[in-house]
Amino acid sequence: MKKSNSNAIFDTIATVIAQKPSGTNAYTLTFECPEIAEAAQPIQFVNIAPVPLTAEGSPGPALDMLLRRPLGFSQVRPEQGRFDVIYQVVGRGTQAMADFKPGDRVRILGPLGMPLTADMIKAQTVILVGGGLGLPPLYDLAPELIKAGKEVIVIAGARAENLLIMDTQQCKLKRPLPDIGETTGFKPFVELGADCVITLDTPAEGFLSGLVTEPLNKYLEQDFDGGLEIIACGPPIMMKVIAQIARDRGVKCRLIMEARMGCGLGACQACVCKTTDGYKRVCTEGPVFDAEDIVWE
Ligand SMILES: Cc1cc2nc3c(=O)[nH]c(=O)nc-3n(C[C@H](O)[C@H](O)[C@H](O)COP(=O)(O)OP(=O)(O)OC[C@H]3O[C@@H](n4cnc5c(N)ncnc54)[C@H](O)[C@@H]3O)c2cc1C
Ligand code: FES
Repeated sequence: MKKSNSNAIFDTIATVIAQKPSGTNAYTLTFECPEIAEAAQPIQFVNIAPVPLTAEGSPGPALDMLLRRPLGFSQVRPEQGRFDVIYQVVGRGTQAMADFKPGDRVRILGPLGMPLTADMIKAQTVILVGGGLGLPPLYDLAPELIKAGKEVIVIAGARAENLLIMDTQQCKLKRPLPDIGETTGFKPFVELGADCVITLDTPAEGFLSGLVTEPLNKYLEQDFDGGLEIIACGPPIMMKVIAQIARDRGVKCRLIMEARMGCGLGACQACVCKTTDGYKRVCTEGPVFDAEDIVWE
């Protein structure tokens, strides 16, 4: 649903409300920031300073801590003026964020990027495919799709059980796969009522083994009378293969593209990706692109 401040971008200060482990290898950070929470729409993101504000007059952060890090919204609660991000520690910036404590005040820019909302999707069934850190933004979109009466199937991929970024729960599949009526899914999606399967590169009991493309291909054998769309977010190689599968099967597919970012505002050109219509900035013209429009290099 379009919100009143949907075109506004705020360069503002948010308060950390909570920092909790998520899954086996990530954190959920909750911020209070009413202006961003009210304006945020699915698939948009925020640029977060990796160190909190210090007292006036004290030394500023190290040079590499001045650049803000982009993180997708994983859940937005405008009525509380709060939003969550789920992140994994991969470098110095995210390592510093792991030290955020309730009450810390943090510079945040957002919401950034073009949204993807339920009314933009015609198909009755949507398969969300998330690889690794591609999952949190899809969790922000899923409730909107379900509220709009759509069937949501989530296929999530991870390298190993100790690298999961959300808590898990058994999922009884409403749309079973051959020989699989029940499997381990990500709790937040299962609680929403979505079918959720997790594939692991390193086999582990209770999970599907292999790549996300294996259950995806099996689902694509089924009938989807009201139409089907695939929305994928994850590593480029995963998205390239999914784009090809969708093209071969004649299924509409949108990709949420990943890019290293600088400004997040369209000025520095650090985040471009090649499309059939020239280079596009992931931060402003994206992050969502039609799979057909991406030129893979
Ligand atoms: C629009 C957008 C949304 C994102 N949403 C999330 C999210 O919800 N949760 C989350 O954990 N991460 C997300 N990321 C990735 C996140 O921004 C990076 O992990 C973070 O900036 C790394 O900062 P760092 O200083 O810790 O690591 P750095 O020292 O900057 O990098 C450490 C390692 O991570 C890799 N890396 C850094 N940034 C990216 C990137 N953008 N894409 C791919 N690899 C990268 C580097 O190549 C390097 O190998 C998102 C990125 C973008 C562009
Ligand atoms: S990050 Fe600067 S143009 Fe996209």
